[in-house]
Amino acid sequence: MSVHALHYHPNIKPHGGVLINREVSESDRDIQLKRALQLPALVVSEWTISDLELIAIGGFSPLTGFMKQSDYLSVINKMRLENGLIWSIPITLPVPYDKASLYSIGQEIALKGQDDVIYAILKLEDKYSYDKEEEARLVYGTTDNAHPGVKKLYEQGEIYFAGPITLLNRPKHGEFAAYYKDPLQTREMFANLGWKTIVGFQTRNPVHRAHEYIQKIAMENVDGLLLNPLVGQTKSDDIPADIRMKSYEVLIDNYYPSDRVRLVIYPAAMRYAGPREAILHALVRKNYGCTHFIVGRDHAGVGDYYGTYEAQELISIYEREIGMTILKFEHSFYCKKCENMATAKTCPHSKEHHLHLSGTKVRAMLKDGIKPPKEFSRPEVAEILISGLRAKSE
Ligand code: ADX
Repeated sequence: MSVHALHYHPNIKPHGGVLINREVSESDRDIQLKRALQLPALVVSEWTISDLELIAIGGFSPLTGFMKQSDYLSVINKMRLENGLIWSIPITLPVPYDKASLYSIGQEIALKGQDDVIYAILKLEDKYSYDKEEEARLVYGTTDNAHPGVKKLYEQGEIYFAGPITLLNRPKHGEFAAYYKDPLQTREMFANLGWKTIVGFQTRNPVHRAHEYIQKIAMENVDGLLLNPLVGQTKSDDIPADIRMKSYEVLIDNYYPSDRVRLVIYPAAMRYAGPREAILHALVRKNYGCTHFIVGRDHAGVGDYYGTYEAQELISIYEREIGMTILKFEHSFYCKKCENMATAKTCPHSKEHHLHLSGTKVRAMLKDGIKPPKEFSRPEVAEILISGLRAKSE
């Protein structure tokens, strides 16, 4: 297995120094696919498939596979891989107890999707049990199973399988394929565009005016914006990725200079792990070649589990080690008196002048076909969201 040659954009090194490539080479693919058919198979979840894709394409560099116990314990307890590198979220392959006993260490396993496609081969180097409550407490900061990430953790298999993977088939991204790029490709794209400073933006939501505001402040200071929406699994009441993608397209077409923004999907599952996930989000964008990363209010948060600026506080501790510039933004809103987007840093007016709409309220409005005010969401974006949600409900 090779590492990508040093073709990547030189402005920022991947995490750990090399962009990992765990994808089988074209010339070896047929042989490995035939061999995989003879291996014991394990059907894995969509979540696992998104993780193994990100490992293989280097999005999760320096990981080369699912974490072994020593890395796992080090990550949950110390936020570092065993080798000392910052890493905030365990990347693991959970297997139900009864199935786990069918495989032994040293074996190779064909990892299959529900669709019967063999996505990868895992070399099983470690298998271990773990304490779900401990992981919940350390990673998510709560053991409450109403937290969507914790709920997933409690529902998953009891044994972690670990070891390096080799990707045989990249997952298909269907209607998003045009917006798919791996980290090597984004790095090449940035180089071709002549961008030396790139700000990455993570989102699992449509881009509303507050998002646009902070992106554009960032764009004043860098060469370009990588709008990098997460399109893997999200919780059921988040706006589905297919509708969101259309809303990003229309927003960029109408309100962004086309030569200073690129839309690329981030094919990961959402953990809702707040501060720790903000660090993962930054590291992945570093691997994609971003030099800057935006962390706003309650990044990757859900409900009231995390403080508004907890993600910013945590990432600030590691910013230097991460090696990116983290652009931190306060809660942004439209102020009717300023007649502008603002934050407490720039607006002197009291809250009654600020336009406040909760995510829940906005979703309810959109479902009822009501456009939120244009100061909250661009009308073109609201129209796409309303018609997309309507089509889904029909
Ligand atoms: S998430 O992936 O972080 O959960 P979300 O779309 O809610 O996605 O937010 C994307 C980014 O915008 C995050 O960095 C978040 O902190 C920031 N953000 C969202 N809303 C606001 C706001 N009103 N003011 C400032 N930052 C915001």
